Amino acid sequence: MTEFDKSLKEYNTFGLDCTAREYLELHDESDFDYVCKKYAERGALLVLGGGSNTVFTNRVFEGCVLRVCNRGISVVKEDDTQVIVRAAAGEVWREFVLWCCQRGYCGLENLAAIYGTVGASPVQNIGAYGVQVADLIEEVEYLDMSCGAKKRIKAADCDFDYRFSRWKKANKNELIYSVSFRLQKKFVPNLSYAAVANNMSEKEREALTPLAMCNLITKVRNSKLPDVATLGNVGSFFKNPVVSKEQFEALKAKDETIVSFDDKNGVKLSAAWLIEHCGFKGKRFGNVGMHEKQALVLVNYGGASGREIVDFASLVKETVLQNYGVNLEIEAHLV
Ligand code: EPU
Repeated sequence: MTEFDKSLKEYNTFGLDCTAREYLELHDESDFDYVCKKYAERGALLVLGGGSNTVFTNRVFEGCVLRVCNRGISVVKEDDTQVIVRAAAGEVWREFVLWCCQRGYCGLENLAAIYGTVGASPVQNIGAYGVQVADLIEEVEYLDMSCGAKKRIKAADCDFDYRFSRWKKANKNELIYSVSFRLQKKFVPNLSYAAVANNMSEKEREALTPLAMCNLITKVRNSKLPDVATLGNVGSFFKNPVVSKEQFEALKAKDETIVSFDDKNGVKLSAAWLIEHCGFKGKRFGNVGMHEKQALVLVNYGGASGREIVDFASLVKETVLQNYGVNLEIEAHLV
């Protein structure tokens, strides 16, 4: 079952040419024992879903990659108002969202057209257009690779925060194999995001369905974010940084156009704005650059190495720190 010296080029949306020393795939529960054995042998496994948030910084990854490929979507429970839908971790996120919207199961439509898999969605708590996946998750089912037990954990115990969960920093023994979502049958569109609301006529708003919302979000995303098939990327490369109210006031006094959002810990700044105002938007440096339509998205123009990406990201980070005194944190997972 284990493959050796396996190219990961097709398994990461940056299109990086990295070779994994060892590689295996999880297709169904009959693979659990083998995965646990491998975990015991290697100490750790690098779990890969759609590879849309992973940056391979070296040509060779010396460890063992486990790609989660299990499939299946089912309704676990439903009544007149709600439905619990369970999806295997290996399901493609954007297809799963469409599946739900087509059946009138509401809640995920603002998360349409995001790359990656269902299993990766809780890890970084994916979010867009005023919705984060943590708000829709009922529970996460995982294999405890250290003992072979199948376990489940409620959303309230997953330490969810902005692009954060219990799996970001620790719990590497937990392999997510399915996620259950609590969705609604009555559609209440979330139009909190100006870019979404402004993209719609009054008539469109009245006739809105989950599927129409899903299509609209897809259109908005496609207008700004590059298609990974033509321009490798991992979505937002950095997180939007949170600063104190005092620091924000000082920055605003220098440039009142600075873009910000309320946050429970202070003021959240638009990293895209900061990067754009440091002159990086649409600028190419060798094989990499920040996207011309969304300055937060680092793109691979072709042939970039992981090292080139890391060096360029450091330049962006240092420049933002020098010009604004703000520390950008990388959102993508560097390995
Ligand atoms: N802006 C700029 N320059 C740019 C782009 C944006 O100044 O080049 C300013 C604009 O004023 C814009 C504001 O920043 O109104 C916000 O931009 P956008 O709506 O594109 O959102 P974002 O804060 O840059 C976040 C998420 C995205 C998500 C969008 C939409 C993070 C790290 N990123 O980006 O998520 O799609 O909001 O909700 O929070 C991802 O995580 O990979 C991702 C794409």
